[in-house]
Amino acid sequence: MKVLVSVASKHGATTEIAAAIATELSAAGHQPVVVHPEDVHELDGVGAVVLGSAVYAGHWLKPARQLAERLESQLTGQPVWLFSSGPLGDPPMPDGNALDVTAIESQTHACEHRVFSGRLDRSTLGFGEKALVRALRAPEGDFRDWDEIRRWAVSIAAQVSNIPVARTSRPEE
Ligand SMILES: Cc1cc2nc3c(=O)[nH]c(=O)nc-3n(C[C@H](O)[C@H](O)[C@H](O)COP(=O)(O)O)c2cc1C
Repeated sequence: MKVLVSVASKHGATTEIAAAIATELSAAGHQPVVVHPEDVHELDGVGAVVLGSAVYAGHWLKPARQLAERLESQLTGQPVWLFSSGPLGDPPMPDGNALDVTAIESQTHACEHRVFSGRLDRSTLGFGEKALVRALRAPEGDFRDWDEIRRWAVSIAAQVSNIPVARTSRPEE
């Protein structure tokens, strides 16, 4: 089945999570299509959607939020999985309660929303971001749990396998 994987990322950590998810979907026999949220205008031929974003100041990035808003009517009736890439450190901070995805969950009627730990590499940050992470004392490092991410992707692949394929032509009479 064709699965749209679309994520918003500022510094690449979330894009790499999307690639790992696509790899697992592909290994399970599906056809993942990885597209930037800005470039998704319709869901023709798509049987399921994985939508994700990095979290900045408690919110998803605009391109992913706008995708959910723009395609709300098409996403209704599609199986949709959401993920956020954000918390840093061990234990991961902030916890999921500090993240506002209520609107996106209701626009997409998502089956599930997962929060994955993220990555912070100070050398890639701009001046304002550096000042903010210094003030917040956000720990630097790559906290992504690849086993957890792959397990989630495998579980999505299994659920997608059980979704009946939409009929595109009328059956022979
Ligand atoms: C300026 C700044 C603000 C951040 N704010 C949050 C936040 O509010 N909540 C959170 O969970 N993570 C926050 N993070 C962590 C990022 O979401 C995390 O590093 C993420 O993996 C980055 O993904 P990206 O490389 O795809 O942009 C912040 C990081 C930076 C640099």
